[in-house]
Amino acid sequence: MADSMVKLVHVVKKFSGEKDAAVNDISLDIKEGEFITILGPSGCGKTTTLRIIAGFEQADSGSVLIDGKDVTSIPPYKRSVNTVFQNYALFPHMDVFDNVAFGLTLKKLPKSEIRKRVMEMLKNVQMESYENRMPDQLSGGQKQRVAIARAIINNPKVLLLDEPLGALDLKLRKQMQIELKHMQKKIGITFVFVTHDQEEAMTMSDRIFVMNNGQLVQSGTPEEIYEKPRTRFVADFIGETNIFEGVVSETHENIATVKISNGQTINLKNENMVPGRAVCFAIRPERLKLKSSPEGGDSYLSINLKERTYKGSVLKTVVSLSDGREVIVNEPAGEGYKLFDTCPKAYITWKPDNAVVIAS
Ligand SMILES: Nc1ncnc2c1ncn2[C@@H]1O[C@H](COP(=O)(O)OP(=O)(O)OP(=O)(O)O)[C@@H](O)[C@H]1O
Ligand SMILES: [Mg+2]
Repeated sequence: MADSMVKLVHVVKKFSGEKDAAVNDISLDIKEGEFITILGPSGCGKTTTLRIIAGFEQADSGSVLIDGKDVTSIPPYKRSVNTVFQNYALFPHMDVFDNVAFGLTLKKLPKSEIRKRVMEMLKNVQMESYENRMPDQLSGGQKQRVAIARAIINNPKVLLLDEPLGALDLKLRKQMQIELKHMQKKIGITFVFVTHDQEEAMTMSDRIFVMNNGQLVQSGTPEEIYEKPRTRFVADFIGETNIFEGVVSETHENIATVKISNGQTINLKNENMVPGRAVCFAIRPERLKLKSSPEGGDSYLSINLKERTYKGSVLKTVVSLSDGREVIVNEPAGEGYKLFDTCPKAYITWKPDNAVVIAS
């Protein structure tokens, strides 16, 4: 396994005058060459965490290690880290070449070497024919490419990116997500990417760190985070989900029977369940199926069909339980239409494994 490249140990940062800590006891470990994303809602502390790694912000307590070295009290310019910001921060009076060359010019490298490295880097970001353009003659996506080229030309060990695609339109944003990921794999630099967009995080990351209220609430591969959210917050924040509440009525060896809020019972996997305990579980809309009668082995609940929306690749159906609670079902478009027309009373069914118990 690769070595640790960025490590935060019990980092706390509270801004003066604020009631709560912006970063509240965060520990994390990022391996060399990983593409990780810090994901969370606005104000949860993502930028502050990034600024602490970069050295623009000092932690009140805890430590920051980069490539095994404690850099907690080392200034930003002495850390082998570069940052790309959302607003690109290109030098407006310099052309593309000079913007990218900036770090090397400061180091007073020979002109011929600077030229070679800048052109190589511009090729990397597919901007080699734009070397003489000024920043205000570039599109948003092109500016972003130049900003990234400028940030990696000095071969930092870690590149920090704070919502770098936020200002781009959706189509370009999706294209840049793929490009950025390819580039990262090619150059092998560790990327720490910040976004509040869960789809972006899922597309790009080797691992996702989910933050809420200054805390790291869960980390894992996109698949782990999506399939096995540990809390209601994570289940809700990452994609669409249905959350059910109930109380364990009885347990057998590996099955627990749970009475949900409308009085119906369903079976869950018995993982440390005790009769009387309140439980919460989540089922993704695409794991639910609409059936006119349940099939053996599947869990099910009887429902009333309420509303459906054709969304191209999926048919989204809103159904309700007997107490009026709504549940969303996403199925490949096609089949569901028939059921809806002929059979307003139906069942939602799912494989028992697709119900994930979460902390409320
Ligand atoms: N310089 C500062 N002084 C006081 N409070 C600050 C300062 N910078 C950030 N905060 C507060 O710290 C908390 C975390 O802010 P931060 O910028 O890290 O959030 P974020 O997750 O990056 O949000 P966003 O997605 O909106 O960029 C917020 O409550 C914010 O108001
Ligand atoms: Mg921010």
